[in-house]
Amino acid sequence: MADLRKLALSTGGGDAPGLNAVIRAATIAAIERGWECYGIREGYNGLLQPERFPTGGLIPLTRDSVRGITHLGGTILGTTNRGNPLRFPTLVNGQAGEVDRTDELVARIEACGLDALIAIGGDSSMAIADVLGQKGVRVVGVPKTIDNDLEQTVVTFGFDTAVAFATECLDRLHSTAQAHQRVIVVEVMGRNVGWIALNAGVAGTAHVILIPEIPYDLTRVAAALQARFARGRHYALMVVAEGARPIDGAVVARAAEAGHAEKLGGVGEQVAEQLRALTAFDLRTVTLGHLLRGGTPTSFDRLLSLRFGAAAVRALADGHTGVMVALDPPTVKHVPFAEVSGRLKRVPLDSDTMVTAREIGICFGD
Ligand code: F6P
Repeated sequence: MADLRKLALSTGGGDAPGLNAVIRAATIAAIERGWECYGIREGYNGLLQPERFPTGGLIPLTRDSVRGITHLGGTILGTTNRGNPLRFPTLVNGQAGEVDRTDELVARIEACGLDALIAIGGDSSMAIADVLGQKGVRVVGVPKTIDNDLEQTVVTFGFDTAVAFATECLDRLHSTAQAHQRVIVVEVMGRNVGWIALNAGVAGTAHVILIPEIPYDLTRVAAALQARFARGRHYALMVVAEGARPIDGAVVARAAEAGHAEKLGGVGEQVAEQLRALTAFDLRTVTLGHLLRGGTPTSFDRLLSLRFGAAAVRALADGHTGVMVALDPPTVKHVPFAEVSGRLKRVPLDSDTMVTAREIGICFGD
C-alpha cells in the first residue's frame, strides 16, 4: 500500500455532540505520524461544490485549528444531510431529482492528492464510505449519532449527551406536572429506534414510554395512567420517540424531499390529542427535537470521541481500509462496513433495561 501522507476528515449527516473531539484526536494523531490533515467542508460538499466555499472546500487542520474544541458542540467543518453523493439533489428543467456523484468524488479525492479519508457519520455516511472504499479510496469510518442506531458498536458518540439532556428535562418537568396535576408528553428524537426514549425515560422516571420497537395501543396507555391516578398519583410523564406508531397506524412524518430522508415529528402532539379524547387528563406536550443535538458533550462522549478519532488514524496507519471503528469494551475494534451499513440497531426487547423498565411499572402501551 502506498505511503499515507495526506489525510482528509469529513463530518456528514445530523450533527452530534463529540464531532469536534473526534476531529481534534484524529488531527493530532495524524500530525504525530507526520501526515498532513485536511477537513472537507459540509460533508463532501467541499469537494463536490468547492466554488461555494470562498476560503476553500478543504481546510488545513493543524494543532492550532483544533485547539480548544473538544468540549464544543457542532462541527468546525460544517455538515449536511442534503449532500449524500450517492443521491445528490439535482434540479433538471425545474424538476427535483437525485444523481450518483461518487465517481466524481473519488476523482476529486485523487486530484487533491488525498491518500485516505476518515468519514465521521451515521448509517448513510457509512454506506457512502463503503462505496468509496469499493471504488479504491482508503477509508475508515467513525460512528456518530445521537440515535445510537448503528450496528456493531455498543454505543455511538452523541447518544450519552442526548440522554443526559433529555433526563434533565424530565427532572424539570416532574415538578410542574405534579404541581398542576397534569400528564406531560415529551417527544424525543431517535428516528426508527427507541434508544433515547428508553434510556432517558427510565433514568428520568417516566411512567409511560412509547418506542418504535413496540407499536402502542392508547387505550392501554389511558388505562395505565388512570390506574396511576387512582393510586393517588395525580400526574404523569410520558416519553414518546418520534418514530413510535400505533398498532394500527403509521409514523407521523413529512414526505421525503429529493436527497433527503422523510422528516419524523409530531407524534407527541398526536398522542396527547388522542388521549384527550379518551380521558379527562389535562395534557401538555414538549418536543425536545434539536435541543438533543446541541451543547457540550458529556465526559463519556468526549472520551469516546477522542478514542474513536485516535483509533481511526491507528487503523489507517496499520493498513486497514473499508472498516468502521466500534466500541467493544474495553477496547475499540474495527468492523467491515458491510457489517454496519444498511442495518439498524433496534432496542432488544429482552434487554436488561427493558426488563428493568417493565419490572418498575413503566407502561409501553402494549
Ligand atoms: O439522526 C439524527 C436525527 O437527530 C434524528 O433523530 C432526527 O429524526 C433527524 O436527525 C432530524 O434531522 P434534521 O432535522 O437535521 O434533518
